[in-house]
Amino acid sequence: MTAQTLKSDANALTEEVVASFANAENPRLREVLQSLVRHLHAFALDVNLSMSEWETAIGFLTQTGHMCDDKRQEFILLSDTLGFSMLVDAINHRSMEGTTETTVLGPFYVPPLKERPHGSDIAGASQGTPLHVSAQVLTPDGKPIADAWVDVWQSDDDGYYDVQKPGQEENLRARFRTDAEGRLSFWSIVPTFYPIPHDGPVGKMLEAVGRHPYRPAHIHFMIGKDGYDTLVTHLFIAGDDYLHSDAVFGVKEQLIVNLTDEEAGWNASGERIGAHKSLDHTFGLRPAAAAS
Ligand SMILES: [Fe+2]
Repeated sequence: MTAQTLKSDANALTEEVVASFANAENPRLREVLQSLVRHLHAFALDVNLSMSEWETAIGFLTQTGHMCDDKRQEFILLSDTLGFSMLVDAINHRSMEGTTETTVLGPFYVPPLKERPHGSDIAGASQGTPLHVSAQVLTPDGKPIADAWVDVWQSDDDGYYDVQKPGQEENLRARFRTDAEGRLSFWSIVPTFYPIPHDGPVGKMLEAVGRHPYRPAHIHFMIGKDGYDTLVTHLFIAGDDYLHSDAVFGVKEQLIVNLTDEEAGWNASGERIGAHKSLDHTFGLRPAAAAS
C-alpha cells in the first residue's frame, strides 16, 4: 500500500466513523466524540502506530484502570502528568482581576472533611516544622466572604497523604468556615516536596522517559460559597527545588508564597507558642455569574 493509498483509505475510515455519530441525540456528545475520533485517527497516522504499540497502549490503560480504587486514582495521575488536567483547568478558569488562580485537584482529595474550629492543629501526630496559616477570603473587589467552606489538605513531613498510609486516621486535612471578616486560621506543619505515586503504570511511563515524579511542596485549598465558583488551588512554598519542574505542571507564579519565621512568644490567650513558620494569604473568589 502506498502512503497515498493509506491516507485516502484512512480518511474514508475516519469519515465513516465520524458519520456513525451523526444521529446522536445529544449534540454535545456528538461534537465531542466526532472530534475525538478525528484527533485519535490523526494521531495514529502521525506516529505510524505499530500493532505492538497499540497492544502496549491497551495494556497500559488496562493497568491504569486496575490501579484505581476509592483511594487511588491512576487516571487522574495520568491526566495530570500529561498536562491534560492543567489544560482543562485553563480552558475552564480564565484569569480575572482580584481572584485566585486555580490549579489541579490532584488525587488525594477525599471528601467529606471534618469541620474544625479556627485555630485547630490539623497535624495531629505528624512531626515537622510548625506552621501557622491564616487566610482571608474576599470578593474580587475586596469585600469579605463570610461562611465560605474552606477544605485544606496536605502531605506530611515524609511526603505522604494520610490516605496513602494504611490504617492512618484522617490527618493533615480539615474543613474550616470563614468568619464575618472572611477569615480562618489553623496550625499545621510545613509541607515538603513529594513524589506522586509512582509504583503503577504512570510511574513506569515517567521512568521510561527520564522524568522525575516530584511535586514541589504545597498545601491544597478548595473554597466554596453559594454564588461563587468553587476555587480549587494550591499554595506552593517559595524556594522549593521542584517549583520549575512540577511532575503535573501545576505551578503558577501567583500561587507561590513565602513563609515567614516567627520567634517563640505568647499568643493573645497568654499561651506559650514555640518558634514556627507563618503563612498569611488572601484568596479571591470569582462570582459564578462571571464564569467563562
Ligand atoms: Fe498535593
